[in-house]
Amino acid sequence: MSAAVLDVYLTPADGVEALRSDARAGLTASPKDLPPKWFYDATGSELFELITKLPEYYPFEAEREILRDRAAEIAAASGAESLVELGSGSSEKTRLLLDALGAGGTLRRYLPLDVSEAALREAMDALSTEYPGLAVRGIVGDFTRHLDRIPAEGKRLLAFLGGTIGNLRPAERARFLRSARDALRPGEQLLLGTGLVIDPSVMVPAYDDDQGVTAEFNRNVLRVLNRELGADFVPDAFEHVAVWSDEREWIEMRLRARHPMTVRVPELGLEVPFAEGEEMRTETSAKFRRAGVAAELEAAGFDLTAWWTDRAERFAVSLATAV
Ligand code: SAH
Ligand code: AVI
Repeated sequence: MSAAVLDVYLTPADGVEALRSDARAGLTASPKDLPPKWFYDATGSELFELITKLPEYYPFEAEREILRDRAAEIAAASGAESLVELGSGSSEKTRLLLDALGAGGTLRRYLPLDVSEAALREAMDALSTEYPGLAVRGIVGDFTRHLDRIPAEGKRLLAFLGGTIGNLRPAERARFLRSARDALRPGEQLLLGTGLVIDPSVMVPAYDDDQGVTAEFNRNVLRVLNRELGADFVPDAFEHVAVWSDEREWIEMRLRARHPMTVRVPELGLEVPFAEGEEMRTETSAKFRRAGVAAELEAAGFDLTAWWTDRAERFAVSLATAV
């Protein structure tokens, strides 16, 4: 029999409070800068699902190739009884891990954690039907704040897929990895997906597709601000921009004002001026090299146990053991 439970550590009220604080800081900063977690309301999660099906968005398929080829090895190396997944979204690729850990005979429970309650509920409904013997316990939470709440039942494998770690800034990333290490017992493992530094002529179109889906995903943050904070952003007044920074080794998504305007955010008592051409940063998506991943893991108290890439070497999945 299946058992699906949802623990909510981030209520809608907490979410709005955090959004108010991030929006106030980001809209008054110079340059303006919003954290990417606010893309993911129900619409944003659906837009991300569409992005994963675009021909230009290679990270999804590349990571799926690795998991398809290596899931049995990962299952054998981890022997996990609990699969915990951060930023699980639709849990699409996770099924490869669930199947392999199930076949290995160790898996008892799956604990997906996501800020998007809508995405989490949908994924849990589907998984409960597809995996009737699996206990599924979802956590509505923020992976930069709530890792200490992860239940400690059974030997755990903590999966953080999709390259989402790249959406954290370097200092935030270091804090995140330390809190992931603190949440685990020695011998438990982290399975980490990271996009690799490759030719910008491949990376940039993945964030600026021909159909404009990524542009709509980017503008969705303005719709979230309008709905949650009563702001009057006109999304189409902003152009989608994606650029590769050679220095930082990340893709930056920005929204560029097409003309001068003042945006009102009544819930914050703010009037926010935009000059023509002014750019607001909405996401950084860092890409990595093996040595950098190994060093960051080691600094946080993990050993890099295994490193796998897709055949075209665009993406890597690392298995790291808490020491
Ligand atoms: N892991 C999936 C989805 C990646 S999209 C894949 O590989 O395809 C990124 C996911 O992380 C979204 O579901 C989003 O809602 C979630 N997310 C973003 N920021 C988050 C945060 N701070 N805490 C928890 N979840 C977050
Ligand atoms: C979720 N995350 C890893 C995606 C990425 O590639 O940085 C989000 C995304 N942004 C634009 N397209 C996809």
